[in-house]
Formats: sequence, structure tokens, C-alpha cells
Amino acid sequence: MLTLGVLASGRGSNFQSIIDSIESGYLKATVSVLITDKSDAYAVERAKKHNIEALVLKPKDFADRNAYYSQVAGALKKRGVELVILAGFMRVAGKPLIDEYRNKIMNIHPALLPSFPGLHGQKQAVDYGVKISGCTVHFVDEGMDTGPIIVQAAVPAYHDDTEETLSERILLQEHKVFPYAIRLYSEGRLSVEGRKVIVRGDMKNSCIINPPL
Ligand code: GRF
Repeated sequence: MLTLGVLASGRGSNFQSIIDSIESGYLKATVSVLITDKSDAYAVERAKKHNIEALVLKPKDFADRNAYYSQVAGALKKRGVELVILAGFMRVAGKPLIDEYRNKIMNIHPALLPSFPGLHGQKQAVDYGVKISGCTVHFVDEGMDTGPIIVQAAVPAYHDDTEETLSERILLQEHKVFPYAIRLYSEGRLSVEGRKVIVRGDMKNSCIINPPL
């Protein structure tokens, strides 16, 4: 049984998809803590509903980034967390956390990396006029959305898409690929070689091409 710690800043629909995957038996895992930087994040309500401890840690209460991420890493360690899930955590992870959990932190990004990293990936894709977009689950390194890619799912992008319509189409896939990537990890099927993530026994499924919705 894999012990997860989830970091989220907002509505927490990806957090919910992970909870649902655990409850349905798809994921053999448990979430020991939700850590948020926003006390009003809806993710906190979701945690409460499922009897998951919710911890509010705000950067402004710490001397600097290092102090903040040392505290976050310590809180995760203390609760036996083996894999850290960034589910809409709107901050770049700091060194103390990355050092403690090297290649054990996963993030989901709403674009096909390395295109459109950072904030508003979906709006960047709409403004650029791409015809295919999607989402990416990757391990977290020191950069902004730059770590080794685990799984990607593609969706069509239409000329009349808005940020909202494209986001909605991508989100449906996020809710599938994040639990899937965590499952691969929990089954010990992922290893990192340089920039590449080797997916044992399931190479074709780490690239998910979706039909038009
Ligand atoms: C998602 O689009 C995710 O890709 C991005 O932040 C958003 C979080 O949504 N990193 P939610 O809080 O999981 O609903």
C-alpha cells in the first residue's frame, strides 16, 4: 500500500479523482495528508469529507522559501508519505522538498509539455492556435514544469475553443491520467533515466491519444 501526500491550492478536482480511484480499488494507496497554502481551498472540504488530515501551511508564515519547503517536507516525512502529489499546487516546489523526495514528486500540467509551461497552459494553447493539446504528468525537478515526463494525454483543440472549453476537455483526461501514473508508480513500473521515464510493461499506454469529444 503506497502512502500519498497531496499538495493542492484550489478546487481539488484532481485530488478528488485520486480519492475516487482509491475508493474504487483502482489505486492501492492511501492519502495520509493534504497540505494546502490556501486555507479557503475547496480541496480542504474534500479532505474533511474523506477523513483525510488537512494541513494549512502558508509561505508568508515562514522566513523564506527554504524554511517553508523544509517544513512541508518534514510534515510529509512525519506522516510516512512515500509519493508526493502536486494536484493544482500553484507554486514551484522548493529545494528542501525536492531533495527529500527526488523523483518521488508528481505534478500534473494542463498542456503537452514542453509546450506552454507555467500558468494558464490552456489559454496559452488557445492563443497560440494549436490543433492538439492535452495534459502531462511528470516528475518534479527544480524547474518550472521541466521534470521527466511520465504520461501524456492528447485532446483536440478547435478554432472556436475558449480557455474554458479547452480546459474542460483537458480536465476530463487529467482525472484519468493522474491516477494511472500513480498506479504505474505504485506497481514499481517507473524508473527515471536522465530525462526519460521508463514505463515497464506498458510502454504504449504512457501516450494516450483521445478521440474528439
Ligand atoms: C489543473 O488544471 C491542473 O492541471 C493544474 O491546476 C489545475 C488544478 O485543478 N496544475 P484542480 O484543483 O485539481 O481541480
